[in-house]
Amino acid sequence: MTTPLLKIEQLSKRFGGLQAVADLSYEVAEREILGIIGPNGAGKTTAVNLVSGVIEPSSGRVFLDGRDVTGQKPHVLVESGLVRTFQATTVFAGSTVRENLRRGAFRLLYPGFLATLFDTPKAREARARTVAHVDEVMHWLGLERFADHVASSLPYGIQKVLGMGIGLAARPRIILLDEPVAGLSAEETDHVRDTIRLVRERGIAVVVIDHNMRFITDLCDRVLVMAQGRELAQGAPRDVLANTAVIEAYLGKRYAKAQR
Ligand SMILES: Nc1ncnc2c1ncn2[C@@H]1O[C@H](COP(=O)(O)OP(=O)(O)O)[C@@H](O)[C@H]1O
Ligand SMILES: [Mg+2]
Repeated sequence: MTTPLLKIEQLSKRFGGLQAVADLSYEVAEREILGIIGPNGAGKTTAVNLVSGVIEPSSGRVFLDGRDVTGQKPHVLVESGLVRTFQATTVFAGSTVRENLRRGAFRLLYPGFLATLFDTPKAREARARTVAHVDEVMHWLGLERFADHVASSLPYGIQKVLGMGIGLAARPRIILLDEPVAGLSAEETDHVRDTIRLVRERGIAVVVIDHNMRFITDLCDRVLVMAQGRELAQGAPRDVLANTAVIEAYLGKRYAKAQR
């Protein structure tokens, strides 16, 4: 058995009287796409917040590459190779696409304050690497033609892809995407889906949240269904889809229909 890239063990989070996440366990292998699906309020975002260090779990553990990283802050986790995007679009609205991506790459390649101040060879080399890396990310996300456009002037779908790009610029080993297609047209959704496939082809594992059953089952190797903070089902898309009774009972007929 190889060590999973990400392993969540019995993770729980309580907000006052509300059990937002309860005893959640899952694993993500390298290059795997895991989908998390469930109705509003199921605890999907909280689960991602717990894993990415935005909030601390009430109990349970998070392992990255076999190392216990429970409770570590987001910027520390980024350096360990785990990044996440937020449900709302998070781009630097007044900056160009190129500048946005550069900010994503910055932390990893930043050579230190003094090196930058005195423009040492190390700082120049880091800058050249940043530029090359940003160009590469722009290329594989198809953002080159927007390189010098201000983020706020871009269509919403492109802003969503840019939000992913900022995360990818930090060279993660795993990226967690919270509703990357919320509010997008069918065409934009297809583009994001194809982009996520490309991300995986680059050797990066993906955890993707959505409430659209078709989108998730099309894209993912494995699916985790959540309801009221708990796991309802977990497995290959085919097996989860076959679990009609569960889906109907907990997610409503709408979800049961979406599979047909
Ligand atoms: N910071 C918070 N404080 C209190 N309750 C919260 C907080 N964040 C989320 N919740 C509650 O936890 C539950 C799960 O929310 P969330 O994880 O956002 O669900 P989802 O992303 O699946 O829609 C909801 O009932 C929500 O209101
Ligand atoms: Mg959410």
